[in-house]
Amino acid sequence: MGIIVNEQNGLFHLQSSEMSYLIQIVNGYPVHVYWGARLKHRESMNDLLIHSPEGAGLDRLPQEYPQYGSGDFRNPAYQAELEDGTRITELKYEGFRITKGKPALSGLPAVYTEEENEAETLELELKDAYSGLKVVLLYTIFADRNVVVRSARLSNEGEQKLRLRRALSASVDFTGRSDLELLYLSGAWSREGNITRRPLLQGETRIDSKRGMSSHQFNPFAALVTKETTENHGEAFGFSLVYSGNFEAGAEVDAFGSARVSIGLNAFDFAWQLDRGESFQTPEAVMVYSGEGLGGMSRTYHRLYRTRLCRGQYRDEERPILVNNWEATYFNFNADKLVSIAEEGAKLGIELFVLDDGWFGKRDSDNSSLGDWVEDRRKLPDGLKDVAERVNKLGLKFGLWFEPEMISPDSELYRKHPDWCLHVPGRRRSELRWQLVLDYTRKEVRDYIYDSLAAIFSTVPVAYVKWDMNRCLTEIGSAALPPERQAETAHRYVLGLYELLERITADFPHILFESCSSGGGRFDPGMLYYMPQTWTSDDTDAVERLKIQYGTSLVYPVSAIGAHVSAVPNHQVGRITPLEFRGDVAMSGNFGYELDLTKFTDEEKEIVKRQVQTYKQIRGLVQKGDLYRLKSPFEGNESAWMFISEDKEEVLVYYFQVMAVPHPPLRSLRLAGLDPELEYEVESGEGGGKSVLGGDRLMQLGLPLNLKQKDYESGWFRLKAVKS
Ligand code: DGJ
Repeated sequence: MGIIVNEQNGLFHLQSSEMSYLIQIVNGYPVHVYWGARLKHRESMNDLLIHSPEGAGLDRLPQEYPQYGSGDFRNPAYQAELEDGTRITELKYEGFRITKGKPALSGLPAVYTEEENEAETLELELKDAYSGLKVVLLYTIFADRNVVVRSARLSNEGEQKLRLRRALSASVDFTGRSDLELLYLSGAWSREGNITRRPLLQGETRIDSKRGMSSHQFNPFAALVTKETTENHGEAFGFSLVYSGNFEAGAEVDAFGSARVSIGLNAFDFAWQLDRGESFQTPEAVMVYSGEGLGGMSRTYHRLYRTRLCRGQYRDEERPILVNNWEATYFNFNADKLVSIAEEGAKLGIELFVLDDGWFGKRDSDNSSLGDWVEDRRKLPDGLKDVAERVNKLGLKFGLWFEPEMISPDSELYRKHPDWCLHVPGRRRSELRWQLVLDYTRKEVRDYIYDSLAAIFSTVPVAYVKWDMNRCLTEIGSAALPPERQAETAHRYVLGLYELLERITADFPHILFESCSSGGGRFDPGMLYYMPQTWTSDDTDAVERLKIQYGTSLVYPVSAIGAHVSAVPNHQVGRITPLEFRGDVAMSGNFGYELDLTKFTDEEKEIVKRQVQTYKQIRGLVQKGDLYRLKSPFEGNESAWMFISEDKEEVLVYYFQVMAVPHPPLRSLRLAGLDPELEYEVESGEGGGKSVLGGDRLMQLGLPLNLKQKDYESGWFRLKAVKS
C-alpha cells in the first residue's frame, strides 16, 4: 500500500486499500496507465502497459500532463510561451521524490493530513530542456481513502521570461471507453445544484466559469460515470477543484473513443508571467474513485472535506441552530426589532442570532454603503455592541453579516478611493446590484478590510460571520498591475481573497464563518478550507430545496449545507408548505430559521420548539454521519435520504412526498448501508410505535411508508441497533 515504484520499467503504482492509480514513464513521457479498483501489485506489470501504435506519435498516448504542439492534438494540460513568441515545449521525465503525508500549497487552500502515515505524496519532475520550464506533478494518495489529489508546480529554471497561457491541475486519459457519461452540477441563482448528465460522444463536453467566482451556473466539479452507474452501483470518477474563481472542467473524446478529462484554472482570459527563478502552483484537483456508484463517491468526498479540508474549532463541533433576520426584516429594522426576534429564539431553544445585511453605513437598500463597515446609529442608536450584548444576555450567540469584497459607488470608501475597485481605464465600470468589486490583488485594500473587520471583532462579541459576495467580476483589471500582468488579475484576486481569509480566520479562531455568494455562487472546496459551512441557496422554498440540497450533497458534506426554515408564502416562489415539511427539509442540512419568529402562532411555536429539540438530538448524526440518498427529487414526486453512524448502529431516515397521489399503491422505502446482520429498533415519527426489523430486511424489502393523502407530506424514522 502507498506508492510502489518499479524503477526498471518506470512504473509508479499508487495504491490505497481499495484503489490503484498507475503511471509509467514511456520515452520520457509520463503515461497514464490505469485508475480504478485496486490492483494487486505484481513485480512484472508489463501486461498493463499501453503501447502507442507505431507511428501514431503522441496523439494516441494516454498522458498525465499533456503538451500541445508536437503531435498531440487534444486539449493540453499546460501551455507556455517563450520570449520569442513560440509556444512549443516538451516536458521529459527527470526524476521523482516520495514524501510522507501531504505538503501544503503555498497561498492556496488544500486538503491536508494530520498524521504523516495517512498519505504519501509522489512528485514527478519533468523538464523542457530548451526553455528551462520545469513542471513538478504532485500526487497524494491516502492509505484508506479512494482519493488521488493532484496539482502541478511550474517553475522557470531557464534564462528567459516565460508566459503561462494554461496551467491545469489534472488531466486523465481514459483509453478506449465508449460507455462514458459526464455528470456535473449546473444551475442559476436560486436554483443551484441541478444534476446534469450527458453521454460523451466524439468531441468536447465542457463546463466553466468566467465570472471570477466558481459560480451558480457550474460548480467546479465533474464526474465521469458509465451508462450503468446509479446511486449505489457502478463506477464513478469524481474531479473536484479546490478553487473559488474561474475554472474549467471537461471531457474530450477523440476519434478512437478515448476520453481526456481535465480540470483546473480556466485558460480563457488567463496568462501568468513567470520570471526567471519563479514558480506557479496550480490549485489542486481532488479525484475520487467509487465502485459503489455516486453514493460511494459522495461519501468519500464528504469524509475527506469534512475532516481534512475544513479546519478550525468548528470542524468537529456540532453547529449552532441559528435564526437570521434577512427574510424577516430585510433592511427595515431597529435594535428592538432584532432583539425581539432573538428573545423569541431564546424561548424556542435557538442558539445563535444572525444580523444580516443593512446594519452599517446608510444602508436602507442595496444601493449604498458597502465598504463603510461602521454601524448605522439611526438603526442601532446604542451601537452594535449593545445589540450583541442584549442578544448574548438572552443566551444566544451573536452573528454578523459582511460583504467584504465589495464597494458601493455611493460610499465614503469609494469617494476616498475610486481606484480601489477592479476596473479598466477608459471603460465603463459595470455595476451589478449597484456595486463594484474591490481589487483584492492590492494589499492596501485587503489591509483596509482586515482592519475594518478586526476593529469590530475586537470590540463586539461576534461569534459567527456570514461572509457574502453578491456579484461576479467584470472589467477584470487592476490599477496596481503592469500591462503584461493584467491577465493575472482574476487569479490574483482569488489569491488575495485567500490571503485575507487565512489572516482573519487565524486571528479570530473562535468565530464560526459561513460563506455565501447570493446563496450558492461560491459553494466550493476552496471556500470550505476557510469557512466550514455555506449558505446553500437564496431559494428557501422547501420543495426547491429538496433538489438543491440533494444535488449539492453530491460533493459537499451535509455539515456544510446551510438550510433554513423560512416563512410562507415563500419569498422566492410563493409556495405554501407546512411548517413540518419545511422543518424536515431544513433539518436534513445545517439547520436554522430565516423568518420573523415573533409572528408565529402558539401552535407554530410548539412545532418549532419540537424541531429545535429534535435537531439538537440528531445533529451529530446529520452533520457527521454517512449520507445515503434513497430517492432522487430529480426523478419523481418523492425524495428520501438517510444518515447512518460509522458503526452502523444509529440511523435517521427522512422521506418527502411533494404532491399527494390519488389511490396510491402500497409504498415502501428500501434503506441502504445498514449492517445486514444487525437487528434495528425502528421508531416512526408518525408515532406508530416501535418495531424490530433486520438490517437485511430493511434493505431488501424496505420500510413500509404510510403517507397521508396530502400535498407536502414528510416524515422520519429513527433506527437503533438492538444489542443481542
Ligand atoms: C445574499 C444572501 O444570499 C442573502 O442571504 C442575504 O444575506 C443577502 N445577500 C443580503 O444582501
